[in-house]
Amino acid sequence: MSPPQRILLGVGAGIAAYKSLELARRLRERGAEVRAVLSPRARRLIAPLAFQAVTGQRARFELWDEEGEAGMSHIELARWAEAILLAPATADLIARLAHGLADDLLTTVCLASEAPLWIAPAMNRTMWAHPATQNNVRLLQTRGARLLGPASGAQACGEEGPGRMLEPDEIVAALCAPQALAGLRLLVTAGPTFEDIDPVRFIGNRSSGRMGFAIAAEAARQGARVTLISGPVALQTPIGVRRIDVRSAREMLAAVLAEIDDQDVFVAAAAVADYRPRELAEQKIKKGMAGMNLELEANPDILATVADLPRRPFLVGFAAETENLRANAMAKLAAKKLDLIAANWVGRPGQGFDAEENALLLLWPGGEREIPRMDKAEVARALLATMVERLESRASA
Ligand code: C5P
Repeated sequence: MSPPQRILLGVGAGIAAYKSLELARRLRERGAEVRAVLSPRARRLIAPLAFQAVTGQRARFELWDEEGEAGMSHIELARWAEAILLAPATADLIARLAHGLADDLLTTVCLASEAPLWIAPAMNRTMWAHPATQNNVRLLQTRGARLLGPASGAQACGEEGPGRMLEPDEIVAALCAPQALAGLRLLVTAGPTFEDIDPVRFIGNRSSGRMGFAIAAEAARQGARVTLISGPVALQTPIGVRRIDVRSAREMLAAVLAEIDDQDVFVAAAAVADYRPRELAEQKIKKGMAGMNLELEANPDILATVADLPRRPFLVGFAAETENLRANAMAKLAAKKLDLIAANWVGRPGQGFDAEENALLLLWPGGEREIPRMDKAEVARALLATMVERLESRASA
């Protein structure tokens, strides 16, 4: 995917707004069309006319703008944008977006647009470090927003620390960077599978789906065409990702086989149930017995099935282990003929299953890499970077 050509520059009421003029110029030098939308308070810091002069387009700031609605309405503006860049993004602007407010033109356009959102925060270091701001930023990131900075250094308020807006050149470089996964087709499984016992009960597991969703989201952001096959989870579909919902392992296998042709990469991040009840009771099983036996039978192994296909994509598997992590993962890498395996400890507090963070040990035939414990989005980025390296080394072999 080429860099965005139609950029909506959202200007919040931070003193760094003066740098946004330079930013608009730099984007235009790259050939992008830029339309500026100022928050109502940003207008008091910097004149819309200045943006108009630099962008060659009318700068907008009012939701109720008769002239604007007669030309390009706020919805058209939202559809027009190929990327929305908030620079500077103040703590207040970030908070309002995190909560889905739409009480001015800028927040309305953000809410009405499906374009990728880039956020370049600029604020006092204490405001940046405040848990409220940090939580809001994290929430926006989980919805697919990309964070640019902030940088650390001397601040307009006289303090020193993180909170400075990145320099225009740095923002332009990030926004226009070539996308590492452009053109690649990726199929990802995520979440648990539920194996029904009767109409109200099932066998499940503690997978939240977050790791697989983070991989799908990050791959889409880097330009891949992503299909995500998900077991039952409580997560939003990442921006730009095609999602197929399934319930059981057998449904997941059927969906994977229907989608696998033409895929370049298959990432099996789902925690697929190994067994299912041999019989599905049509009616709710009554209690009354002192105990009961549930007979189980093995589920198909989705990853192994794909590995045996005549035209197999690059295969990435996961190994969730509570003991002997490396040895078990190595064995799976070989047994399932994988190109890369991501091994993680489960059952440790705060990481792995049902957690925000994760740490992985990546293994491939002839090498390994440790990914330290961090946010699942960052873990996904590191995993995809290794995947790209392995794909490239396979192509040049
Ligand atoms: O053997 P184990 O279940 O630990 O292997 C884990 C890997 O295999 C994961 O990548 C998981 O998504 C995949 N898998 C699968 N189908 C199964 C079991 C596991 O695709 N039935």
